[in-house]
Amino acid sequence: MPIVTIEWKKGKVKIIDQTKLPLRLVHIYCEDVKTLREAIFSLKIRGAPALGIAGAFGVVLGMQNSSATDFPSFRRELEEVIDYLSSSRPTAVDLFWALKRMRNCAEKSKDQEIPRIKDALQEEALQIIQEDKTRSRQMAKEGAHLIKDGDRILTHCNAGALVTADYGTALGVIYRAKEEGKTVTVFADETRPLLQGARLTTWELLQAGVEVTLICDNMAGDLMQRRKIDKVLVGADRIASNGDVANKIGTYTVAVLAKENKVPFYVVCPISSIDLEIPSGKMIPIEQRNCQEVTEFGRKRVAPPGVKVYNPAFDITPARYVTGIITEKGMYRPPYRETLKEVKG
Ligand code: MRU
Repeated sequence: MPIVTIEWKKGKVKIIDQTKLPLRLVHIYCEDVKTLREAIFSLKIRGAPALGIAGAFGVVLGMQNSSATDFPSFRRELEEVIDYLSSSRPTAVDLFWALKRMRNCAEKSKDQEIPRIKDALQEEALQIIQEDKTRSRQMAKEGAHLIKDGDRILTHCNAGALVTADYGTALGVIYRAKEEGKTVTVFADETRPLLQGARLTTWELLQAGVEVTLICDNMAGDLMQRRKIDKVLVGADRIASNGDVANKIGTYTVAVLAKENKVPFYVVCPISSIDLEIPSGKMIPIEQRNCQEVTEFGRKRVAPPGVKVYNPAFDITPARYVTGIITEKGMYRPPYRETLKEVKG
């Protein structure tokens, strides 16, 4: 897969600026933690696993110029950097998972000299990106077993190479099925308000040579009713221990439509997106975003000034709608409260 979403290049974090896609492929280089946090906040880099990678390198950037000479001072600065990055986006748990890993890494190295601790942080971030590449391919392999030649798959938002280092979660399954010689066609929801489906999913599927048809979000039910969809595959930003799934706003609607029309609904995500500390989806923090995302369409105002707006970035799909959760360790099926317990073992 030739799309490299995020990488460490000569002391800088190189990312694809996803806000410019599909019209322009522009890379930006983050040299400091402020630029990186802004890139996360403004969705230049986005999607749960990629946010984890970005967060890890954010810590590297934030600590590289630390002048601390003892571990307690280094730790104080590290906590400030972690808090700063944590405040960028609240829903995707991978960000917090990666920040916790970076904290643990520093703690494990605390008896070493400060330059060695900085090296250890960089090695940990590089390890996270390497693991991401491996687990993306494992998830894809696990999920591809489910795909039959000729399947017509509906997806929502973007859960492809652009949400990982380079291969994807839900779309990774499709790439793998294609590599195995299966013919798959995809229907991509445009995914209002920020159009990740229209802008990003179609862009990367076309590059990979996968047949894709773009639809408006309100067309998914019609397609399912006409028996034109065999499976739904989506990603996840956070899964609670009961199997409730937080994913891009509109995912819940797709899941309800899928159940009504007897279409299997699969979620593809790494284990780091499963938050066993949260008992139910009701407790997952949901990011509320700027009302302009709704009052404008393609930067053009479409609603009257002063109108009230509701703009949650994610919704919760209750576990009863989820046929299976595909991870790098295989697929988990209901009852999730039981099956997900084994996940972190
Ligand atoms: O707001 P975004 O673009 O960061 O949304 C997150 C997502 O990309 C989706 O919810 C996606 O389906 C899951 S992340 C692999």
